[in-house]
Amino acid sequence: MDLQLQAQEILKDNWRDGFSIPTAKLYPFQWLWDSGFVAMGSGYFDLDKSIQEIKKMFSGQWGNGLLPHILFHSETEKSYFPNFDFWNSNINKGAPHFPKSSGITQPPVFGFIIHQLLKGNPKNEKLKSFITDIFPKVVNAHRFLYNYRDHKKEGLFYIYHPWESGRDNSPIWDDALNRIEITPGSIPSYQRRDTQIMDASERPTSDKYDRYVYLLELGKKYKYDGKEIAESSPFLIQDCMMNSILIKSNDSLIQIGKEFDFDTSEIEEWQSLSTANFHNKFWNDDINYFVSYDCRSNEQILHKEIGGLVPVFANLANKSQVEKMASYLTNIHERGYYLCPSFDIDSPLFDSKRYWRGPVWPQMNWMISEGFKNYGYTDLSNIIKDDFIELVTKLGFYEYFESEKDKVKTLTKGYGGNRFSWTASSIITFLNND
Ligand code: GLC
Repeated sequence: MDLQLQAQEILKDNWRDGFSIPTAKLYPFQWLWDSGFVAMGSGYFDLDKSIQEIKKMFSGQWGNGLLPHILFHSETEKSYFPNFDFWNSNINKGAPHFPKSSGITQPPVFGFIIHQLLKGNPKNEKLKSFITDIFPKVVNAHRFLYNYRDHKKEGLFYIYHPWESGRDNSPIWDDALNRIEITPGSIPSYQRRDTQIMDASERPTSDKYDRYVYLLELGKKYKYDGKEIAESSPFLIQDCMMNSILIKSNDSLIQIGKEFDFDTSEIEEWQSLSTANFHNKFWNDDINYFVSYDCRSNEQILHKEIGGLVPVFANLANKSQVEKMASYLTNIHERGYYLCPSFDIDSPLFDSKRYWRGPVWPQMNWMISEGFKNYGYTDLSNIIKDDFIELVTKLGFYEYFESEKDKVKTLTKGYGGNRFSWTASSIITFLNND
């Protein structure tokens, strides 16, 4: 069966009642950015399904605008930790009672996702009327970030939990997490589920997990939107990738708004503040790379990590910066790695197998390849695309992949969950989007 058909089959299997799970067993609910990428891929063969997927995601939006990172559409499915009862998000008055949800967010992808759907189907009336309905909700999700998460009014929002970044276990969070002291009684007792399902060597360590629980409890204490979070969280980071995606999505909303004759003045104000501060905050001249910013230590986090390539997707890099990013990736390619490893291959913290510490991730490759394509780096963009397609062809539709070519030669499968939705949807998007 060809790749596109296999991918469609997987998305069909992962479809539940109006939404897609990322993969059976490990992730049995709806995740925010997974859902966005799935909606984009489905748009190439079943637009109705993508519309339903996005509607279902926004059925979980809170009164304050927050779009949760997980919607627990089933309350009887108990195989995941932390479940809806552990989050207890109804301590926030604006959190819906159904679907139940987590209390934190994930990358704000829906602005650029709906724009992508519109570009592929510019005359579809059903899509246009859907966009008219969903537009204010997407704007409201951005408003949440500007109102509740931009404590310095810089137009750059913070996250207080690594799970919000989508890159849960990246080494860039290590220092901030190590600030958290776990003492007896500082966190409730809990039982992980992920390591019962997956190989523990591919998953975060239990020290890390304690700290994830600590930050969850901190959010809960302040009802997930209190200003005390910014005052007291040991983990408070302006993430370069999250803010790039916000800016990319703002830009999409502005373009859609102009086409549909919606008022975009509020988004334009956000956008000018965000873009004005982006470079000073995130570019680092010493390592020639975009980095994230730790608001507790007031320093940039000096690592070459995959999120630092996403400004290219958001058209935020100037000519010389994009050139530097391109030679960084070309060098990695020439040294025998698949693009794009999620972390600096020369760092002692690099681990080509462990979650977000080195492997290749499908949806990241799509964003980065798209970014370089738009800057005119066609060859590099194609390498990023072809590497991903080769990995899926060799190793299957896994959640993420080994980045060292020599190691791949000895492997028969990828890492993490199999028959993974974002892998399938990234394949479809790549194959249909030249
Ligand atoms: C993991 C990933 C996150 C993703 C989720 C569901 O937690 O780190 O980015 O959204 O799995 O696939």
